Amino acid sequence: MDGFAHRGGRLYCEGIPVERLAERYGTPLYVYSRAALLARLGELQGAFRAAKPLICYSIKANSNLSILRLLARAGAGFDIVSGGELFRALRAGADPARIVFAGVGKTPVEIRAALKAGIRMFNAESEAEIAAADAAAAELGVRAVMALRVNPDVDARTHAKTTTARKDNKFGIALPHAREIFAARGRYPHVELSGIHLHLGSPIYSVDPYREALAKMDRFVPELRALGVELKTLNLGGGYCVSYDGSAVIRPRDYAQVIVPAVRRLGLQLIIEPGRYVAANSALLLARVVYVKEGWNQRRFVILDAAMNDLVRPAMYGSHHHIWPARGPASPLLSAGPSKARLETVDIVGPICETSDCFAKDRPLPPTRAGDLLALFSAGAYGMAMSSTYNSRPRACEVLVAGTRARVIRARETHEDLVRGE
Ligand SMILES: Cc1ncc(COP(=O)(O)O)c(C=O)c1O
Repeated sequence: MDGFAHRGGRLYCEGIPVERLAERYGTPLYVYSRAALLARLGELQGAFRAAKPLICYSIKANSNLSILRLLARAGAGFDIVSGGELFRALRAGADPARIVFAGVGKTPVEIRAALKAGIRMFNAESEAEIAAADAAAAELGVRAVMALRVNPDVDARTHAKTTTARKDNKFGIALPHAREIFAARGRYPHVELSGIHLHLGSPIYSVDPYREALAKMDRFVPELRALGVELKTLNLGGGYCVSYDGSAVIRPRDYAQVIVPAVRRLGLQLIIEPGRYVAANSALLLARVVYVKEGWNQRRFVILDAAMNDLVRPAMYGSHHHIWPARGPASPLLSAGPSKARLETVDIVGPICETSDCFAKDRPLPPTRAGDLLALFSAGAYGMAMSSTYNSRPRACEVLVAGTRARVIRARETHEDLVRGE
């Protein structure tokens, strides 16, 4: 958790006590550390340096313009999956030559917009999409550079909803069929089919799935070359894990140790698309306790002013987020030894009318009262990006902290914002 520390009984983001941010900007509040974002990207750049990769930050993890701008200036390219993400990337000043476009359902309108913008390449997910790109490129008088996303049938052992490379997943093309598509590439004169893309799932807590997929590429790439395909790029997607509970997990250098020699062996330019690794542990979601109440069998409910509309991962995937008060004993995540705090077991819930609006069940937490400020850790990836206005709750505010300065990078929505366009 670079960027976050516990000092003198208070939780800090860089040089600012987060309580001060909550007082100034209200709650729920997403708080990002600029230093943490840059450190995480820097760690990836360092780990993979020997392969000179194109690192395309996956916008879906967190698409805030200020964050995209920060990462673009630090050398990131972008992985996009929609016309909206293309718009955001361009608005953030991204170099189109460093944008790659994934997704199973790119529409002809989106394909045209990306071609006009001059993006680096598409990660095609079907032959029909290649045909659509061929038609759009012909019309615009350009060439569409494409990688084919393959489905290598590798189990990344992630949550069932975030595994993407097994036989029954909608993503990519089965390897035998992929070979046929490469063989038939001559049908599409306005397309340069010169890359392979795969993304195994997210988050992946072992290098083994990458090793297994690369072993399949060791066999697949020579088959394509035998067909005369001039392969240039191998895009291995994202999936690099983070620790959500403080336990030790593998790091970028561990993935790089497997990936870098493999792409060198294959003689291909490496592209990676990390999202979670850059953003997840670069932010907290701050929430106030509205009430504490007791249910049946002395079950204690800590009711927050943040809800599943702000951070849906626990409700959607059963994900764990560490939660701890902003004032008082240090969080075990930020202190060296075990916490000496007196703990009570509580359910931490939001106000939305769904039983799934629960951030943590039977969670040990220092005694908490109404008005206390809690921090939900590791909230930077798939947090705000997956937020909604369910129950007509305006979306939260986001602030970016750099040292002792904080800046609003997304204003809190108002009730007027909720009905705009209706
Ligand atoms: C094609 C593709 N690339 C990259 C990513 C980013 O994954 P992560 O955030 O785990 O790095 C995803 C996530 O779903 C994806 O689908």
